[in-house]
Amino acid sequence: MPQLFNDANEESLRMVSAEPQSNEQVSDEELRPDTLETFIGQPHLKAQMKLFLDAAQLRGVPPDHILLAGPPGLGKTTLSMIVAHELGVPIRVTSGPAIQHAGDLASIVSSLDEGEVLFIDEIHRLPRAAEELLYIAMEDFRVDVMVGKGPGASSIPLTLPRFTVIGATTREGMLPSPLRARFGFTAHLDYYPHSELERLILRSADVLGITVDKDAAYELSVRSRGTPRVANRLLRRVRDWAIVHSLSRVSSEAVLDALELYQIDSEGLDRLDIAVLTAMCKQFAGGPVGLNNLSAMVGEEAETVETVCEPYLVREGFMARTPRGRIATSKAWNHLGLTPPDDVTSLF
Ligand SMILES: Nc1ncnc2c1ncn2[C@@H]1O[C@H](COP(=O)(O)OP(=O)(O)OP(=O)(O)O)[C@@H](O)[C@H]1O
Ligand SMILES: [Mg+2]
Repeated sequence: MPQLFNDANEESLRMVSAEPQSNEQVSDEELRPDTLETFIGQPHLKAQMKLFLDAAQLRGVPPDHILLAGPPGLGKTTLSMIVAHELGVPIRVTSGPAIQHAGDLASIVSSLDEGEVLFIDEIHRLPRAAEELLYIAMEDFRVDVMVGKGPGASSIPLTLPRFTVIGATTREGMLPSPLRARFGFTAHLDYYPHSELERLILRSADVLGITVDKDAAYELSVRSRGTPRVANRLLRRVRDWAIVHSLSRVSSEAVLDALELYQIDSEGLDRLDIAVLTAMCKQFAGGPVGLNNLSAMVGEEAETVETVCEPYLVREGFMARTPRGRIATSKAWNHLGLTPPDDVTSLF
């Protein structure tokens, strides 16, 4: 039988077993819980997911497609690995930007085995033609293969085995509704409360083989922006501090000293957050200011400012989004040690 597609280019398809690249990635992988049981927090989501997976297993069919939506670092990739692990099936990993042509995706889906999980990270960034191919593959488990060129070209349907797509997105609003409608289960990940991050930090410390005092874990949790990835990153920096200072355990003083060195402030704001707030207050007189102007002023990609800084700044009340642009609230002015103008004080 002739080969219908070129092999998926290596960029667009990566098996999970691929060698991690750096020490930091090694510890990222080893800190990932691999069962629902060890996944910390998000109790409702976990209960829903458990029911959904148990039901599929009892019915003896691969589960419906799953969409995981939420800000960066809250556990979307982790959960997708957990789903495959809980189902005992292999997972293939690709992402929207890695798929340049519909053919890349066609070659991936046509090489899947029955029951396999296909994880598509940043699914909102799939090219339009690939999106359309995915609609059919997800709904009818079929791809249409074009044979020949020009007026004589015809399409041959190729039946696919049943598989489960797990899509992850930080920008659910950018997903076209036909694509969103093809997911049988959508999970929205939320920022984690301090108490859950504290547990997560103590668990990670265990995995990394370091002893962290409970109040040190608390100090770390309040500076972690409600985000597991940030919590793990701060923990690793504090571990470095403890190693260099020959500490046998991490105390809250060690956390405060280390984070001062790394310029993470008492509210968990880092240099970029402070740069954003400073630009708003000093260069734009508190706003309103548009995303592009603001990003250019701090020398950062608009997407980073929008998906990494803003959600936290808005949630913590440092910034307000209005139809006319972003506005620094009086909390932001006060945090920077500046006096808010009267109109800001009265409104925010
Ligand atoms: N609920 C959790 N319990 C324990 N660890 C977690 C949890 N959620 C996330 N983590 C840890 O946080 C790190 C980041 O999680 P993950 O990579 O899954 O985030 P993500 O939502 O996929 O982020 P992105 O949108 O940037 O891809 C992981 O290395 C994992 O160890
Ligand atoms: Mg991810």
